[in-house]
Amino acid sequence: MAPFSQKVYIKSYGCQMNVYDGQKMADLLKPHGYAITETPEDADVAILNTCHIREKAEHKVFSDLGRLNVVRKNRLTEGNNNKNMIIAVGGCVGQAEGEEITRQAPYVNMVFGPQSYHRLPEMLAQLQQKVKGKRRTIIDTEFPTESKFDFLPTPDETPVSAFLSVQEGCDKFCHFCVVPYTRGAEYSRPADAVIKEAKRLLSLGAKEITLLGQNVNGYHGEGLDGKEWSLGRLLFALAELDGLQRIRYTTSHPLDMHEELYNAHGEIKQLMPFLHLPVQSGSNSILDSMNRKHNVDDYLKIIDKLITARADIAFSSDFIVGYPGETQKDHQETLELVKKVAYAQAYSFKYSPRPGTPASILQTQVPDDIKSQRLTELQEQLNHQQLSFNESMVGKTLDVLFDRSGKLAGQIVGKTAYMQSVTLDGCSSLFGNIFKVKINNAYGNSLAGEIV
Ligand code: 5AD
Ligand code: SF4
Repeated sequence: MAPFSQKVYIKSYGCQMNVYDGQKMADLLKPHGYAITETPEDADVAILNTCHIREKAEHKVFSDLGRLNVVRKNRLTEGNNNKNMIIAVGGCVGQAEGEEITRQAPYVNMVFGPQSYHRLPEMLAQLQQKVKGKRRTIIDTEFPTESKFDFLPTPDETPVSAFLSVQEGCDKFCHFCVVPYTRGAEYSRPADAVIKEAKRLLSLGAKEITLLGQNVNGYHGEGLDGKEWSLGRLLFALAELDGLQRIRYTTSHPLDMHEELYNAHGEIKQLMPFLHLPVQSGSNSILDSMNRKHNVDDYLKIIDKLITARADIAFSSDFIVGYPGETQKDHQETLELVKKVAYAQAYSFKYSPRPGTPASILQTQVPDDIKSQRLTELQEQLNHQQLSFNESMVGKTLDVLFDRSGKLAGQIVGKTAYMQSVTLDGCSSLFGNIFKVKINNAYGNSLAGEIV
């Protein structure tokens, strides 16, 4: 490996897929002499690995770019020309905005999308040569014919709880969503590559693996037998691996639930009984207008089948309030669905019109104050249910996988099967182990207890 001669700062915004990509960028650059730095102040290269899902996320990128430019300028006025900083925008804003970014922020040296970051070392090498002379920019937002996965290095470190990307992109085209445009068409990695990466993560100390994909349950990669495998089939294969104590997958689409996957929930004990299954709205007319291709009844039937397969399963979801045309009645129907499913946890957002998506040009946009009102109402109910769910754990003994230090000295934090954080007194030697913990107290976002 080349000795570290440069420092790279990588900031990832948004979903877990971006966190995974950010880690892979670091893995790619390491053999080329780039060490990771947590602060842009001492970075030779700063990469913003961005999210385009809502307007707010995009604004954050531009304000962070402004801050990076101040760091860069300060360095130049200190007369340290050799320490000039390369500023790069990757991820979904890079893909969606391309050259527009360099019009708004001309100091940006490089723009690339989520499917072309495997070329990062090459792009940086080109830029390093140019940047000392006259400033040039590299823009790479093509969807390459090759799969980036074939170029990503195997990891050489892992957290206890690791992400593993198995599927990317989306062909569903929900009318509010930019993902099909920014991440491109659905692609599934071959099972062989997934299993190899899982084995590698386990050998490095991972105990829990979360399979990632924009439509992860739509996985249809080439199996070990040369036939197409579903996500259910892949889960059965992964469950055979030594040392894999917990498996999760996210994010799912209701339309892609399938028999093998229900069976996996029923039969694989390492598959955690907690599923993120976004529904977005509880109103059939809004679901139709969103192009979700399922109604509330279909969704509830799926929930029932999952509970039949695994009685202790709990659910999480995403909701959008104030989608164009949403009436007070539609909103009430969402609140009713939330009650019916009794979600353990959920994310909720105000609808944000995104350029190029069908919903953004509908004439029936909902005013922002109504969106805010509905969001508050929905979140109050979700928070209330989350607290009840957490309180239902008091007095129970739960398996907790410890992996982090707490805020206070001498505290450690772990996760239950339902992703609840549990904090207790302990030391880092417990990291990577699952202990039985008796839950004594429950709060909105966490639990407390003692190891039994
Ligand atoms: N406005 C608000 N929320 C959105 N999401 C996707 N697009 C939008 C948008 N335009 C939400 C959906 C999705 C989650 C990742 O982000 O709920 O499931
Ligand atoms: Fe976006 Fe819908 Fe695809 Fe999810 S399924 S990524 S919400 S288009």
